[in-house]
Amino acid sequence: MQKVPCYVLLVSLFSSALAPLSLSWRQNKEFNQAENYEGSSDFVDLEYHMGPVLAAPINLYIIWYGHWNLSHQVIIRDFLYSVSSSSASHPSVADWWKTVRLYTDQTGANITGSIWLSGEFYDSRYSHGGYLSRLDIQSVIKNAVTSSPRAIPLNAHNGLYLVLTSSDVQVQDFCRAVCGFHYFTFPTIVGATVPYAWVGYSGTQCPGMCAYPFAWPKYSGKPPPNTNGGNNIMKAPNGDVGADGMVSVIAHELAEVSSNPLVNAWYAGDDPTAPQEIADLCLGVYGSGGGGGYVGKVYKDSWGNGYNVNGIKGRRFLVQWVWDLEKRRCFGPNAMD
Ligand SMILES: *[C@@H]1O[C@H](CO)[C@@H](O)[C@H](O)[C@H]1NC(C)=O
Ligand SMILES: *[C@@H]1O[C@H](CO)[C@@H](O)[C@H](O)[C@H]1NC(C)=O
Repeated sequence: MQKVPCYVLLVSLFSSALAPLSLSWRQNKEFNQAENYEGSSDFVDLEYHMGPVLAAPINLYIIWYGHWNLSHQVIIRDFLYSVSSSSASHPSVADWWKTVRLYTDQTGANITGSIWLSGEFYDSRYSHGGYLSRLDIQSVIKNAVTSSPRAIPLNAHNGLYLVLTSSDVQVQDFCRAVCGFHYFTFPTIVGATVPYAWVGYSGTQCPGMCAYPFAWPKYSGKPPPNTNGGNNIMKAPNGDVGADGMVSVIAHELAEVSSNPLVNAWYAGDDPTAPQEIADLCLGVYGSGGGGGYVGKVYKDSWGNGYNVNGIKGRRFLVQWVWDLEKRRCFGPNAMD
């Protein structure tokens, strides 16, 4: 689940069958990421718990819930297309996904390199209102797969559903504990067990939390000034704090849902209701030396926007690193070493 900088898993998978996994941040520790694991693997007990990973090519379906701005949709779509594209130059989004692909299931099958955007559904009428509980997200999926005439398929074989809520939609725990989460649907609600993730629009309700590092957390005081009177907050690579911030949360959730789709595969920690998953371990780390409130070494384009990977159509994105199983540390394709 995406918790943003610094989290504790809150989930109560088993104490409450209705609560998807999610992490919460200890907000006051945002800039003191003592549990940032870059460089030290000694305390990380990431283990495989014998469940499946997403090894078959993934058919990804987006559900746009609420009112979505076209320019935001394009940024997110281009990011998703970039995951499986070989056309972007190194370091690319697809290079970043290679670290995710190191994870296998018990048959030795790796996580797939193919994520195809296979359908989109516009829930522009807010089918379940302006406030969604965690469980409501499953009803939103149910609506999208049964709605006529433009339903997306219920693909229980290799479907993955990404529910994105617009700036005006409140979601249980959004901005208080989480920026996104992943889980799997209940057959009683949706008709099948399929993995899904939800991510909220990062730009409006709590950008300092969910669009970090393009916005500054309120509780951390003023951002450091720079010499020409502005501040040193990183500028978003596609010019949109909300959508660019969401991209990293989506990347985080994609990595985790792929390596732990039924919450019984790859995670660290003794408590399956509060797992630390492969992206949780690297929260707030985007480049070499990252951690403790420093994003790490990333690039700046000629307008001064920060990024660490290239995507299709010349786009650039900033995505957080994930735990590398072979190197036993957080890693991304823009690493200096
Ligand atoms: C869409 O978002 C862009 C960037 O945030 C903004 O400039 C534009 O006004 C928005 N358009 C609509 C229709 O909301
Ligand atoms: C599959 O996973 C194994 C074990 O981590 C790794 O050695 C191999 O390089 C991976 N293959 C791909 C295509 O990523």
